Amino acid sequence: MKKVITYGTFDLFHYGHLRILQRARELGDYLIVAVSTDEFNAIKGKQCTYPYSHRAQIVEAIKYVDKVIPEENWEQKERDILENDADVLVMGNDWQGKFDHLKNICEVVYLPRTEDISTTDVKHHVKNERSIAVKK
Ligand code: CTP
Repeated sequence: MKKVITYGTFDLFHYGHLRILQRARELGDYLIVAVSTDEFNAIKGKQCTYPYSHRAQIVEAIKYVDKVIPEENWEQKERDILENDADVLVMGNDWQGKFDHLKNICEVVYLPRTEDISTTDVKHHVKNERSIAVKK
């Protein structure tokens, strides 16, 4: 079985989140998602709308996801990959090159982000009572 692991905050779950999980799962047979805890987000300076338990449960309910684990710090990736026997690490291409040092223990794949959407955008759109534009 080919196992894939990926990381993220996944606040206000949106279409870009769905697409990265779908594409990550297509790279293997089993997808592990490490969801950032509220404490780790505080270290990153990220204020979430939804608490960790809600974000983790939403991600776990996505059909492409087999297992959710907490992401508590920057350094845990190597341990997670080894403990979970992950064959592939997937990151968004905003992290391009940043995890190449892990190529000695697994395949590292950077997937392009879905254009024109982010949690930050969603917050702005809700605040301004605007819809997300869909490209035809
Ligand atoms: N992601 C993506 N396409 C987007 C937004 C996010 O592929 N348009 C991916 C990220 O690359 C990451 C995962 O989804 O692998 C979780 O990203 P996260 O940082 O939680 O979402 P963002 O929408 O980028 O959040 P923010 O605006 O707070 O940075």
